[in-house]
Amino acid sequence: MKPIQVGLLGIGVVGAGTFNVLKRNQEEIQRRAGRGIEITMVADLDVARAQSIVGSGVQVVNDARAVIANPEIDIVIELIGGYGIAKALVLEAIAAGKHVVTANKALLAVHGTEIFAAASAKGVMVAFEAAVAGGIPIIKALREGLTANRIQWIAGIINGTTNFILSEMRDKGLDFGVVLKEAQRLGYAEADPTFDIEGVDAAHKATLMSAIAFGIPVQFDKAYVEGITKLGATDIKYAEQLGYRIKLLGITKRRAADAVKGTAAGIELRVHPSLIPSKRLIANVEGAMNAVVVNGDAVGTTLYYGKGAGSEPTASAVIADLVDITRLHTVDAANRVPHLAFQPHTFDKAMGTLPVLPMGDVVTSYYLRLRVADQAGVLAKVTGLLAEAGISIDAVLQREADEVGGEGGAAAVAQTDLIILTHDCVEARMNAALAQMQALPTVLQPIVRIRKEELA
Ligand code: HSE
Repeated sequence: MKPIQVGLLGIGVVGAGTFNVLKRNQEEIQRRAGRGIEITMVADLDVARAQSIVGSGVQVVNDARAVIANPEIDIVIELIGGYGIAKALVLEAIAAGKHVVTANKALLAVHGTEIFAAASAKGVMVAFEAAVAGGIPIIKALREGLTANRIQWIAGIINGTTNFILSEMRDKGLDFGVVLKEAQRLGYAEADPTFDIEGVDAAHKATLMSAIAFGIPVQFDKAYVEGITKLGATDIKYAEQLGYRIKLLGITKRRAADAVKGTAAGIELRVHPSLIPSKRLIANVEGAMNAVVVNGDAVGTTLYYGKGAGSEPTASAVIADLVDITRLHTVDAANRVPHLAFQPHTFDKAMGTLPVLPMGDVVTSYYLRLRVADQAGVLAKVTGLLAEAGISIDAVLQREADEVGGEGGAAAVAQTDLIILTHDCVEARMNAALAQMQALPTVLQPIVRIRKEELA
């Protein structure tokens, strides 16, 4: 049978990896797919460089629309990225009846509803394994492998750049700014690392996992996003002393209404630095690696680990999608695996309409660090405010003035750090208690608050 023909839009690091792996493993891939898969046309602004990667047997053009217009092309791979031209090209490819494979998490997290609806209407597939956690087949696992389960929660280290920075901060006791510069010098962080360090990239990925896990539409605009730029070496050190590591987690959870706790039913969707017990496997995921923990009611807790970026790891995910499409493209569209795991018409029913909860309604536990005047009654006052708010304390650590740096000993008022771990409470309640604590004259600096997840 004639090989399925693929057009590639953008041949950068991942595109080149995809071309090379397809070629290298073509025989095994063909045996799996039941048909050859060939990239026969590439669009890239740098035609000469693109041609040098793919050789003379592949047509290279500088106009992506020429690929979409080619009637021989069955599948278009979009590796341009971003929400701009990539969105227009994906929609045009769908309108032209092409199946689409993309690694573009930003595009799908923000415009997924429109794109998946257009694809369903046209009867084509949009596959995006490479959009979340690079080479880890987490989309396949959530959408198909765990399909028997009522998924309860997902927590993932889904941004390698920030995990590399946090690992270095912990290993070397350095602050964020110093490590970021080093990460940029080594090529781990982009020249403009905003999406990574501010948590936006992780939130795009968490948004996609949330939709697939709970059968809700993609709703990036409802995600809570907090990056790692304000983290200091001090808190990483204290967390370690308490048996925790700090990781940037993408978290999504199903939450039932609870009249006693005063919580509403809905879906939590949030990205922020989190303390997690050092003994958890995911706490030991270091450097640029990714890992995702998924908890389902039948399977229990499962863990997926691997490279979240890079040429061939991401190509591995792109090609898995090419094989899926090659196997399924002749199947009646209604019998294919739905884009977001759940049949789209169920999105306006029951679970599908569950709201993404505002951050004030989220339930979690906390690490608090208060720089306070080292005077009698300060601890009692602080813990009293937490007790009044109904927030239960799990552990307290006090670091003496001479341990908290020169500032402590040299300051007019002797100072100390109070570190408090709490049990779970509703975030709005913690916000109110924090405002009261911050207003105490004996609390000398802005309170550090980092959320904590036990992931039990
Ligand atoms: N920049 C991402 C990371 C990879 O650092 O993990 C692509 O999403």
